[in-house]
Amino acid sequence: MSFVSNMAEIGTDINFARQLLREGKLVGIPTETVYGLAGNALNAEAVTAIFETKRRPSFDPLIVHVGDLVQAKAYSSYFPEELMALAEVFWPGPLTVLLPKTEAIPDLVTSGLDTVAVRIPSHPLTRELLLGLDFPLAAPSANPFGYISPTRASHVQDQLGNTIPYILDGGDCSVGLESTIVGVEHGQVIIYRLGGIPVSAIEQLVGPVLILPQSSSNPKSPGMLKNHYSPRTPVILGELEVLVADFRLKGEPFGILSFNKRFPDVPDSHQVVLSPSGDFGEAARNLFSGMRLLDKADVSVILAEELPEKDLGKAINDRLRRAAAK
Ligand code: TXA
Ligand code: MG
Repeated sequence: MSFVSNMAEIGTDINFARQLLREGKLVGIPTETVYGLAGNALNAEAVTAIFETKRRPSFDPLIVHVGDLVQAKAYSSYFPEELMALAEVFWPGPLTVLLPKTEAIPDLVTSGLDTVAVRIPSHPLTRELLLGLDFPLAAPSANPFGYISPTRASHVQDQLGNTIPYILDGGDCSVGLESTIVGVEHGQVIIYRLGGIPVSAIEQLVGPVLILPQSSSNPKSPGMLKNHYSPRTPVILGELEVLVADFRLKGEPFGILSFNKRFPDVPDSHQVVLSPSGDFGEAARNLFSGMRLLDKADVSVILAEELPEKDLGKAINDRLRRAAAK
């Protein structure tokens, strides 16, 4: 039971979550990537509520989550072999594939596009939730449009708690970055959003891929706007030592988001070290919670550095650049 009436209840009751979803209500759900704001993808009212709750423009399509491959096939008229090769290896997991959609998926979900983004998440709670439903779940990240994605239940509560009845608590997200979005055109595999599956892992299976710059000018991914994933505090990317020296001189309070270096003269509450050992997976897991922490700290700017451009470093850098874009 929640004691404050305008907050969501947080718990692990899958049956209760299912009941709410069957009634067309929205539920915060854990996935291995980030938390989602889920509703029945086949129910136009639930889908409309998702857009309204997030204050998301209707031109930005939603990802449809299913429990298994049978369901994934049911909502696509055709499953290209290149994408099947990836799905067989990376599902359940942080991979989203773009497939030609069937009539069953409302146009509202895909913002009128003839493709639908489909994913089987691996988080055990949500997997079980999905396998017991006879409809798929549309679920964008459970944050207000443009803000940092949530990686724990309390992040969802903080921002959307007064608009939804329930958040399924699955602990901290084990990946911490959104899914990698992949499509295929004329036999060419295209990555539309860098994410939890590294590019190199995808290329090992299907050969060289094309990475399309994600912006509002990319009609395939209308929602991948440049200034996504942004804290309210301005983010500046560069050489940390130089930036820190600069802001010390200015006498402005700053926060630091570093890959693996700690700054001994900066209070711990004003710095986040993503991975002291320089591990990309750990850095990814800590990225969004670190940004949130610094956004709440009493600083007027967040100074950050890019990671090496390999492995998950590519996707992390993508998020950092978007956060820094204004
Ligand atoms: O990891 C994830 O993918 C998380 C969890 C909750 O599954 N979801 C997520 O959803 O990141 P969202 O709505 O925050 O981002 C989905 C992205 C949007 O940028 C949207 O433009 C793109 O997927 N998208 C959805 N359907 C598409 C389509 N048919 N064609 C191209 N892009 C699409
Ligand atoms: Mg999002």
